[in-house]
Amino acid sequence: MPAAADVHVFADLECLTRAAAQRFVEDAHAVIAARGRFIVALAGGVTPRPLYEHLARPDVTGQLDWSNVHVFWSDERCVPPDDDRSNYRMARNAWLDHIVIPEANVHRLRGEMEPHAAAAAYDDELRAFFGVARSAADMSATFDLVLLGLGEDGHTASLFPHAHALTEQDRWVCAEYVARVAMWRLTLTPAVINRARDVLFLVAGARKAARVKDVLEGPLAPDTLPAQAIRPGDGRLSWFLDAAAGGRLQDR
Ligand code: 6PG
Repeated sequence: MPAAADVHVFADLECLTRAAAQRFVEDAHAVIAARGRFIVALAGGVTPRPLYEHLARPDVTGQLDWSNVHVFWSDERCVPPDDDRSNYRMARNAWLDHIVIPEANVHRLRGEMEPHAAAAAYDDELRAFFGVARSAADMSATFDLVLLGLGEDGHTASLFPHAHALTEQDRWVCAEYVARVAMWRLTLTPAVINRARDVLFLVAGARKAARVKDVLEGPLAPDTLPAQAIRPGDGRLSWFLDAAAGGRLQDR
């Protein structure tokens, strides 16, 4: 059975974006008040861009002290940071270049490096940030929020069908060549994502509707539907869908 999730279907992407921005700011306020910092891993692709642009609006950005926010990425394409395909570049252009956030709080995956070296470097950076030695087997990296998208093939982050990273239990970051997109990718592993306190999928568009139904209502098959590998242990799992992406779900 797929992981229990709270599923919200919104009229359109604009409504979804506003709700996601409100969730982000409210979560960040609460976590910063409780623990002093908010640690988020961003999704790439197209869908989250309106959210990042919304978070850059003056009436929104003033609601948070961004010096208490640390930004990581759930995945990255193995391209330079100024490449049009870079998830880092997209978030910088849409949001991070428009807010006052210390450079030290922006932790990008180095897509310009040799992929395995980039994965190891990010693994080290995460362990240093969360205070866990490389030798430690425990997965005590705990993001406060991980944002994810969904591909038409059921992938999420850069966890594609049959990826080795889907069963990785020791490394926190993996590099894999993805034939269907003809490029190397870097990705957090499900084991790390599943330690998050909050995981939020943002999915929009009719072309995603069939896969959303498969992931949420179909049989459990994470090797072919990697989004089903996202099953936070104690964390909250939410799906924000627009009406088009949620159109095939039962009773929503
Ligand atoms: C990436 C993303 C990827 C994305 C989905 C959906 O690097 O491309 O991390 O997992 O979230 O492919 O992408 P869209 O939002 O562009 O449809």
